Amino acid sequence: MARTTLTRTILAAVSVASLFTLGACASDAGGEPAGGGETDAATTDDGVITLGFSQVGAESGWRAANTKSIQDTLTAENGFDLKFSDAQQKQENQIQAIRSYITQGVDVIAFSPVVETGWDPVLQEAKAAGIPVILTDRAVDSSDETLYESFIGSDFVKEGEMAGEWVVEQYDGEGYKAVELQGTTGAAPAIDRKEGFESAVAGSDLEIIDSQTGNFTRAEGKTVMEGFLNKHDDIDLVFAHNDDMGLGAIEAIEAAGMTPGEDIKIVTIDAVKDGMQALADGKINYIVECNPLLGPDLAEIAQKVVAGEEVEKRIVVEDLAFDQESAKEALPTREY
Ligand code: AHR
Repeated sequence: MARTTLTRTILAAVSVASLFTLGACASDAGGEPAGGGETDAATTDDGVITLGFSQVGAESGWRAANTKSIQDTLTAENGFDLKFSDAQQKQENQIQAIRSYITQGVDVIAFSPVVETGWDPVLQEAKAAGIPVILTDRAVDSSDETLYESFIGSDFVKEGEMAGEWVVEQYDGEGYKAVELQGTTGAAPAIDRKEGFESAVAGSDLEIIDSQTGNFTRAEGKTVMEGFLNKHDDIDLVFAHNDDMGLGAIEAIEAAGMTPGEDIKIVTIDAVKDGMQALADGKINYIVECNPLLGPDLAEIAQKVVAGEEVEKRIVVEDLAFDQESAKEALPTREY
């Protein structure tokens, strides 16, 4: 479960009693589109919140854990009718899914935007239809904050800073040459983690000699790392914007006859099981966590929004960080 300032007990919070209260405000997923620019209150009396969720894709272990958290929480038992779609990392698919949820007249739309920009028109359509929108995981770059109710997710700039601060603490003075495996171009975590890392290492003698997107996937992380290794023979450190790309880099480094974690140090972000295992095994040197368990907070915020209650505009999920020793301790009880 994500560690936020919100009540962490959403399952308890979605009590039968509160769902009956909400029932007056919820609309039927299969019903006619909500229209007229007003919140579609009192269109149904079944007490179920129909929520349309457009997911980024299935690009990483983090994403799989995030999808599971959402699907495990927004259940019929907890008073939700979840409509879920996978955008396969394409913004046009997300826009199409959101439009379809508007047409279906869902009670709430939630999504994790593939990229930051280009959302205003479809969000304006949702607003005109009276359907509240909740952002999870990733932010949108919009000057109109009325287009969404709340944004639940980690502080990606801080994650990049935490990674960079550890690198400076460990290796400043060694004249390290680093390469960066960036996340999806235009995505909030790629933009923000890059910014945070660069600001933390500025002033140290670490030099970022190359930087390219690996699209948050293991396969592309491996391919890009192979390219880096062919191009540079002096790489000391990899900063990967997620575990999966770091795991791909490990494969490329091993295939090139080197030892990841020793010959080339690796720092990543996410702390999913495979990454934590590689950290415990000494193949990764440090991981900053990005907590994917956003389902409970999403359920709580959706419930409040449908009930017409005030919600926090920004809910920041707290993240930890792990070195090789603390990864060994954390692994046995790791949830994702
Ligand atoms: O938006 C969160 C990022 O997206 C995760 O760090 C990454 O693994 C995922 O693909």
